[in-house]
Amino acid sequence: MDKLQAIVDQYQKVPGGLIEAFHAVQDEYAYIPEEALRRLAKAFEVPLARAYGIASFYSYLSLKPRGQYIIRICKSAPCHVKGAAEVVKTLEEELAIRMGETTPDQLFTLEFTECVGVCAETPVITINGEPYGDLTSAKVKEILAQYRQPQ
Ligand code: FES
Repeated sequence: MDKLQAIVDQYQKVPGGLIEAFHAVQDEYAYIPEEALRRLAKAFEVPLARAYGIASFYSYLSLKPRGQYIIRICKSAPCHVKGAAEVVKTLEEELAIRMGETTPDQLFTLEFTECVGVCAETPVITINGEPYGDLTSAKVKEILAQYRQPQ
């Protein structure tokens, strides 16, 4: 993990650098591996339990392996009313995983999110931050097909 050392070097002297380093690790690996957690705790001179506490406090940091594409389903009321449950059902069926899980090929992870600010187009998902709205089961399948093709 040479990249990990580069991250340590970049953020070690920065105020609040540990959180920045966690972000950088997650950008690199899509989650925070155990080895990274240990090395960052040591480099930033915090107890491992505290580093773990920080990493698990923030919902946008993950200690579990995640997919290349993070699909977030808006669960706020307007999306809920307009059929988010149907979108969840389609995604779970198509990907053969449940919410919170990652496909065995590490391509997709399913997560819930709060309102992403595209409420005029409910129900909404984001894929790596890119919003897709006015979803139907058919549209969800089309979108997944695009992401399944080699990019
Ligand atoms: S409520 Fe779903 S995007 Fe705003």
